[in-house]
Amino acid sequence: MNAMTPKVLEAINRQIAAEFGASFSYLAMAAWCERHKFMGAGKWLRMQSAEEHMHAMKLFDFVLARDHVVRLTGIDEPRTAFVSIVEVFEQALSQEQKVSGQIDELYELAFRERVFAAMAELQWFITEQVEEEKSVREIVAKFHMVKDDPASLLDLDRELGARQPASAAPPAA
Ligand SMILES: [Fe+2]
Ligand SMILES: [Fe+2]
Repeated sequence: MNAMTPKVLEAINRQIAAEFGASFSYLAMAAWCERHKFMGAGKWLRMQSAEEHMHAMKLFDFVLARDHVVRLTGIDEPRTAFVSIVEVFEQALSQEQKVSGQIDELYELAFRERVFAAMAELQWFITEQVEEEKSVREIVAKFHMVKDDPASLLDLDRELGARQPASAAPPAA
């Protein structure tokens, strides 16, 4: 086994930027929603942006815990224009699917390079991606169900606004 390898370190540093990029992207989606007065969706997306920030910091902390150099690369400007609220969440879903692919590739690289500590760290991300894809997919499906019905859209927006921050309780066992 290896404590770390240059390839894995480079890939984790790239993933830190990808998570900050996701955080930025969700913030841009929140701005679109709030400007279009979908305040509940805006709140949901702000919270998701904070979660992505936490993901980035989790990898940031991991690199430091392994006594390596964190390299913060530039992040791309996120998309800010959308034609509808359903398009916002469709973009969120495709973004999450892309990230799941990145995490899988990173895990495979850690496996090939025999960096077992990185594999253990990345397992949390694999599980998290399953959860995130599932919740965004459900929201997209609901927007497709309500279509342009104003009353149902308002209900759905209210439902999204009821999102609570992820529990700070430590995981069981
Ligand atoms: Fe993430
Ligand atoms: Fe995510």
